[in-house]
Amino acid sequence: MYQLRCIECGREWSDEHYTCECGGLLEVRLNLDEIDVDFRLDGKNITVWKYRSLLPVKIDPVTLREGGTPLYRAERLEKEVGVRRVYVKHEGLNPSGSFKDRGMTVGVTKAIELGKRAVACASTGNTSASMAMYAAKAGLNAYVLLPAGKVALGKVAQALMHGAKVIGIKGNFDDALRIVREVCEKEGLYLLNSVNPFRPEGQKTIAYEVADEIGVPDRVVLPVGNAGNISAIYKGFRELYEIGMIDKMPKMTGIQAEGAAPIYRAFKEGKDYIEPFENPETIATAIRIGNPVNARKALRAIYNTDGLAEIVSDSEIIEAQKFLAAKEGIGVEPASASSVAGLRKLAANGMIDPDETIVCVVTGNLLKDPETVVRVCGEPTEVDASVKSVIEKIRS
Ligand code: F0G
Repeated sequence: MYQLRCIECGREWSDEHYTCECGGLLEVRLNLDEIDVDFRLDGKNITVWKYRSLLPVKIDPVTLREGGTPLYRAERLEKEVGVRRVYVKHEGLNPSGSFKDRGMTVGVTKAIELGKRAVACASTGNTSASMAMYAAKAGLNAYVLLPAGKVALGKVAQALMHGAKVIGIKGNFDDALRIVREVCEKEGLYLLNSVNPFRPEGQKTIAYEVADEIGVPDRVVLPVGNAGNISAIYKGFRELYEIGMIDKMPKMTGIQAEGAAPIYRAFKEGKDYIEPFENPETIATAIRIGNPVNARKALRAIYNTDGLAEIVSDSEIIEAQKFLAAKEGIGVEPASASSVAGLRKLAANGMIDPDETIVCVVTGNLLKDPETVVRVCGEPTEVDASVKSVIEKIRS
């Protein structure tokens, strides 16, 4: 049904490998002409596992009913940015509150298929929350490495309560990923970061769902951290295109925080490789990543679709987060709002055709990062427990 192939040299590997001898990442190549695609893009019964015929697993999935997230038409946002159609895909409404569940349902299923007993990841938070949840469902031990003090509280809470062993390291995400890769090799743990080629296979279902519900948009805008998701969504559209189920590709548009923007910088310089940011920094801790492991794949996705990369500041991120929450009723964490902040900036700079149909992917739930909310919105005001003081407050 598929091969695991190196994206750099084309060499093929068995399911147990994550990278090639040459250092290149592996990618699942489906044999699309042999596969009996058993679903239709009819907008019905949308979930990750509707698309099972294009997902490379052989056993029954470990599932918590992920996917099928709402794709909202965002009319106030359309008006604000002056673009004809803007949709927001709310990935924060997945079981653990982020898009990572799509990758984990596939990744953890693969772990079971391969007979693994324990899984591990490095994370800025969401990957660890999701992995801990699916490992719990599957009965696997879970180990997570986090950059100490730089992970939003809700995500740490999830990883802890779902029973993972949570280890904070005195370093950033890039350090954690480097370390966990080596630890997995030494300790025989199954690595579930997006270097694992089965993770993006789940995440590509965002593309399938969008195509299923509204057809192919002109553009997909999303936050970019470790760059797995943009590569995965591109792959999803690409497969539908190769099968002949869709007849065009959307322009993949990646948004980074300005303090953690190696892909944007490479794009601006027209390069197909990145130079890492040594000390990445942003309020959007989910995408506080200086050395994205999927950078080569992501840049290909952007270049091959005539897409764009853009950066946004922390204050632009927070403004977009507030706009989505207060004007559209869509509660997301800061990193997720960067897609909308990026759309606003690109539209304001005339980089987007007002006739486009755009899908912004918002990746994680508002509840993930309550501390940032309190910092930017302040604490609720307190008054005496009387009708009089409440009315005074309301009228003031
Ligand atoms: N948005 C959120 C909320 C995320 O948690 C992440 C990544 C991204 C966007 C970026 O996605 O890495 O595929 O480009 N979070 C990872 C984690 C790194 O550990 O949870 P990406």
